[in-house]
Amino acid sequence: MVNFQTLSVSPRSLDRDCTTLSRHVLGQFNSFSAEAQDLSALMNRIALAGKLISRRLSGAGLMEGVLGFTGETNVQGEHVKKMDIFANEVFISVFRQSGLVCRLASEEMEHPYYIKENCPIGRYTLLYDPIDGSSNVDINLNVGSIFSIRQQQGDDIDEQARDLLQDGHQQLAAGYILYGPATVLVYSLGKGVHSFTLDPSLGEFILTQENITIPSKGKVYSTNEGNFWQWNEQMRDYVRYVHLNNGYTARYGGALVGDFHRILLQGGVFLYPGTVQKPEGKLRLLYESAPLAFLAEQAGGRASDGDREILDIIPQQLHQRSPLILGSSEEVKLVESFLQAK
Ligand code: AHG
Ligand code: MN
Ligand code: MN
Repeated sequence: MVNFQTLSVSPRSLDRDCTTLSRHVLGQFNSFSAEAQDLSALMNRIALAGKLISRRLSGAGLMEGVLGFTGETNVQGEHVKKMDIFANEVFISVFRQSGLVCRLASEEMEHPYYIKENCPIGRYTLLYDPIDGSSNVDINLNVGSIFSIRQQQGDDIDEQARDLLQDGHQQLAAGYILYGPATVLVYSLGKGVHSFTLDPSLGEFILTQENITIPSKGKVYSTNEGNFWQWNEQMRDYVRYVHLNNGYTARYGGALVGDFHRILLQGGVFLYPGTVQKPEGKLRLLYESAPLAFLAEQAGGRASDGDREILDIIPQQLHQRSPLILGSSEEVKLVESFLQAK
């Protein structure tokens, strides 16, 4: 029998004040305005999607049809995992019931998906990467879901969703769910970055950390050095610099969400630059780089494509890719000084 009197922690410290996600969102507005209620409901739907995906992932090895590939290739030209499709459909189904979202734009779908019955009133659009780091799914390493919420602008009569092709400052909310040893949800409404941990016994995401700030410097650099000879000389010079400067250490998990989460909490820089063959890089602007750039800036960090702020870039098409330098403000600036060197 544990004698709490002798423990250094009192019983109360084991029982957080249980700030749930929906309560926190409403608190961000200090009001019960229509917008506050909408965003609280939207974030609750995101949380429900995260719980459903987390549950599926934790049982993946025990059930048929969860791991492995579908045999299909998606609009990105990538082999699709069964979890990509499952997660993609989870987001559609939880937002179908919400009434608030008319359109969903996903890495896994060539065109936006319209929830027709919601469109007369639903003025929000969800842009998302249902499973980020798919290559980690079958080996039980961390993966994530990335989301961004925008307001529909105009009527989109021809269902081309052209109003989505706007800069990242238009995002109303952005964040990710990280499926790791714990399932963690990180979000921002433009009022700071906050993290929540899923308590499976409550089925609730409970506030873990408020107003997270990225340290201005960090020793971690996170990039796939297997691309070294595909990069330009300026990027190779940066990597040579961090190799020679013994203050740096390499950490690369193959899932952007996990690599960014480390940097959000401990500082450092994530780099997915363009290559000579693919100068635009691999990561997608609207549902990978822009949401994380929104978080990084809210946390006092930065996100750049090497020349421009990620949030300033106006995409020409839904699945546009962009190079990404993301993390501590001083580290991003250092990378840019190499990439911009003549
Ligand atoms: P996704 O699984 O959604 O396609 O994203 C994978 C991305 C990103 O999560 C990760 O940082 C990067 O691809 C890894 O790419 P490499 O395997 O080329 O390093
Ligand atoms: Mn991804
Ligand atoms: Mn993905």
